[in-house]
Amino acid sequence: MGRRSGDRILSDALSLSFDLLAPEPEIASARLGERYLSDLNGYFVDEDAYIQKLAENPLVYRVWSWEAGSGEGDLICGFGILQPGKVGNEFFFTKGHYHEWREAAEIYVGLSGEGYLLLEHEKSGESCVAPLAVNRIVYVPGYTAHRTINTGNVPLTYLGIYSTRAGHDYGALAEKQFLSVLVDRDGKPTLLDRSAYRTQKTQKGDNQRSELGE
Ligand SMILES: [Fe+2]
Repeated sequence: MGRRSGDRILSDALSLSFDLLAPEPEIASARLGERYLSDLNGYFVDEDAYIQKLAENPLVYRVWSWEAGSGEGDLICGFGILQPGKVGNEFFFTKGHYHEWREAAEIYVGLSGEGYLLLEHEKSGESCVAPLAVNRIVYVPGYTAHRTINTGNVPLTYLGIYSTRAGHDYGALAEKQFLSVLVDRDGKPTLLDRSAYRTQKTQKGDNQRSELGE
């Protein structure tokens, strides 16, 4: 049971310094989660490229979660570092999730690098990409799956701020995956329909393209 917000003793513990661009970032009193490429089995369309890259098994992202309070009305701040890289033509991304409490929204704040949030509404399947970069914020509404994607050449760093009640539901997406993929097409991030991209990869290889409405 967490302490109620109203009981909190105001102190220095409510303030935190961080430097996500440090060579070995450390965030005191935050919980660290790391994902290597091997943790993303089944997420990328190009399975051959995935297996090839798995030989190096690079670190793809780190997220620290800082909970200054765990009451009903409290907020969690996630600090993310997503490395640059690709599997085939798909840019490195985070697993992506819904919130267990579907109504819960989230605010992302870009700190450095270049990338996007891929957003997909659970009920309508509608999707879009929202740019995430320095001096940009993205509002993720409730009922919306969200995944961070690094389309640049340097780490993408950001904050994600959400309710302690939100929770993470990875399972729903691990089964069906996002309906769209963001791939590098002639140096430009391009959003494609996942199943059409998969069919194209399977049938024609990646060098031929035409029917994808680019
Ligand atoms: Fe989230």
